[in-house]
Amino acid sequence: MRLIAPSILSADFTNLSQQIKYAEVGGADFIHCDIMDGHFVPNITFGPLVVKAVKRCTKLPLDVHLMIENADRYIEQFAKAGAGYITVHQENNRHLDRTVALIKSLGVKAGVAINPATPVNTLTEILEYADMILVMTVNPGFGAQKFIPSTLRKVAELKEVREKSGYKYLIEVDGGVNRDTAGAIADAGCDVFVAGNSIFGSDNISASAMELKNLINR
Ligand code: DX5
Ligand code: ZN
Repeated sequence: MRLIAPSILSADFTNLSQQIKYAEVGGADFIHCDIMDGHFVPNITFGPLVVKAVKRCTKLPLDVHLMIENADRYIEQFAKAGAGYITVHQENNRHLDRTVALIKSLGVKAGVAINPATPVNTLTEILEYADMILVMTVNPGFGAQKFIPSTLRKVAELKEVREKSGYKYLIEVDGGVNRDTAGAIADAGCDVFVAGNSIFGSDNISASAMELKNLINR
């Protein structure tokens, strides 16, 4: 079964607990938390304090996407806040092997993300250690951006490499996932679909989550 990870970036933060419940009712498999620092990306969101609060709202695993500089310095705090997965970017983590090992040493699953202009072959040496590979299908920083179709060939490539090599990582897509793009993303071989605006930006969070989940599992 393909999974959905609603991103609270587009949620109503005055009512986060209720919004997360609605996503759960709609079949959410993860709650995706976008951490932005105003340096690696041009936007600032929230930190471990909010992740810890989200953890108290749900039993679902928290999928924590770090779009920050000096990720190593904060990984332990996010692990303690209750992250189930911590994903770091390839582009700004120079010692990726060490960072991935650090995440795993804290009992958390480790993901590695690549921006739209970053090729899969930059991950060759880390794929066997990763629990998740996140293919950004927009340039990170904001919700509700337009999906970049050319990124899908990287999803297909990751699937092929996983089959050939016997690796175990999940393939996740993040950015511009909605009812119009979901079918092609599923066909390319994505396992986990992050969706912010199309779920939390809609009038009916549960129905939108359910619609997306049905669509990708047809
Ligand atoms: C973008 C974030 C995404 C974002 C996706 O930088 O990493 O997780 O919430 O938002 P939508 O689904 O609205 O494109
Ligand atoms: Zn994200």
